[in-house]
Amino acid sequence: MPQLNSAIISTGSYLPKQYVTNDDLAQKIETSDEWIRTRTGIEGRHYGDETETTTFMATKAAERALEQANLTAEDIDMIVVATVTPDYTFPSVACLMQKQMGLTNASVAFDVQAACSGFVYGLNLIDAQIKTGQIKRAILVGVEKFSSILNWEDRSTCVLFGDGAGAVVIEATDNPNRGVIASKLHANGNLADLLHGTGGIAATQTAGHVSMQGREVFRHAVREMVGVVSPLLEKNNLKTDDIDWLIPHQANMRIIEAVTKQLDFPMEKTIQTVATHANTSAASIPLALDDANRKGTFKQGDLLALSAFGAGFTWAGALLRW
Ligand code: UT7
Repeated sequence: MPQLNSAIISTGSYLPKQYVTNDDLAQKIETSDEWIRTRTGIEGRHYGDETETTTFMATKAAERALEQANLTAEDIDMIVVATVTPDYTFPSVACLMQKQMGLTNASVAFDVQAACSGFVYGLNLIDAQIKTGQIKRAILVGVEKFSSILNWEDRSTCVLFGDGAGAVVIEATDNPNRGVIASKLHANGNLADLLHGTGGIAATQTAGHVSMQGREVFRHAVREMVGVVSPLLEKNNLKTDDIDWLIPHQANMRIIEAVTKQLDFPMEKTIQTVATHANTSAASIPLALDDANRKGTFKQGDLLALSAFGAGFTWAGALLRW
């Protein structure tokens, strides 16, 4: 039996219709385009309306990925959705998507909760299922409706986040030069208080709001997003120079700049979507992937490095051949 690899064969995304600029926010809260732009690189963000639910956005992104792969709903045997803003406590967004899209042959469907690292967590889980021959083809979605948990009394967090969904179809391949080479997941719950939701179904019977100690989170984000890439390269006899494209979690342009600088990696080869998406948590990496893919950025065989960091703390990295 040849060794199976897990290749991303297509991408899709959905951004809500409403686009809100920094100037729009400055009319509502005490902030300015200048502050937001210089501290974060964010120019605007999308917010979903009541029809653009988490499941709706996830479904749209997944439909676009399926269409790009020339596949139909019956071709999928696993659904994983990374999110911290599901429509309901249960069932999962993955199961609601299954119903919505008629993914009748999918025998496995669940949500992953690893905040901004959720997409890379999901990739690692699907890769393991494919490499052990349990499934052939999966849809992985990162989706958030962060506008539903923003605290408009806290200007240090409410300007940072946006809504959206990104999806990929991942397929088993026996091509040794394609797919996930390695991925690694990490967590440190001791630092949970630095970035957390203030509510939860069992604790407060409310969803709560985002609460963050920005400076501390910034420091840890840079350290872990750099630290997760180097060991993956070393273990696979690769160097930073071998990476064709770095796809970091899109939280803040200054974090992306610091990560690329510390890795000694060029900004021109780093995918950047934070300016118009803001921080979309679990959706940020798949949204960036789809944006770049649809612009024709990646060539077959390119080495992609993904690096994510988020609440928990959680962080994760992956190397894959396009
Ligand atoms: O996705 C998970 C990962 N999340 C992140 O990675 C986010 C990490 N953190 C960050 O991106 C940055 O720390 C922030 C963008 C959140 C903040 O940037 P900062 O340079 O660390 O600013 P700060 O928190 O130190 O605040 C500086 C000043 C304060 O005023 P004083 O006390 O110096 O007078 C704040 O009150 O900026 C003020 N400020 C604002 N001013 C205008 C905070 N938020 C705003 C705002 N508009 N929206």
